[in-house]
Amino acid sequence: MKKVITMNVNGREYEIAVAPNRTLTQVLREELGLLGTKEGCGIGDCGACTVILDGRPVNSCLVLAVQANGSQVATIEGVAEDQNLHPVQQAFVDHGAIQCGFCTPGMVLSAKSLLERNPHPTELEVREAISGNLCRCTGYQKIVEAVQAASRTMKKRGKTKG
Ligand code: FES
Ligand code: FES
Repeated sequence: MKKVITMNVNGREYEIAVAPNRTLTQVLREELGLLGTKEGCGIGDCGACTVILDGRPVNSCLVLAVQANGSQVATIEGVAEDQNLHPVQQAFVDHGAIQCGFCTPGMVLSAKSLLERNPHPTELEVREAISGNLCRCTGYQKIVEAVQAASRTMKKRGKTKG
């Protein structure tokens, strides 16, 4: 039997009837049409499905939608600011950190979350923060460089402390 849940997704309130076995990934993609969240493995290994749930990055394939009842969810669709890419998104473009792009939404959300917690991470801290996000294409170096560049940009814009 379906259960009615409420979620705030990217600042918008939703009330949705969901079956108890539906994952957050499935509901975001299939009920809300937010296709930026990717499903790769479906078992918590690849990070393609990463979203921010109540302030922390999670693998949304491992979260039942009913568990997100009453939560705040941020997906890649909510990352750009007005018509402008977020500094992390722009840095991924500028540094060639995107190839096929399948990992990119999850990578960007993990990176953005890191910079909110730790505005000036070391290379090791960046690598640790994205260690749950697998990329088949880039070899990771360009992604790490992009995250560090985004950190510098955000500092210049006064978006981060320190
Ligand atoms: S699809 Fe969720 S971790 Fe791979
Ligand atoms: S850019 Fe293709 S998986 Fe990362």
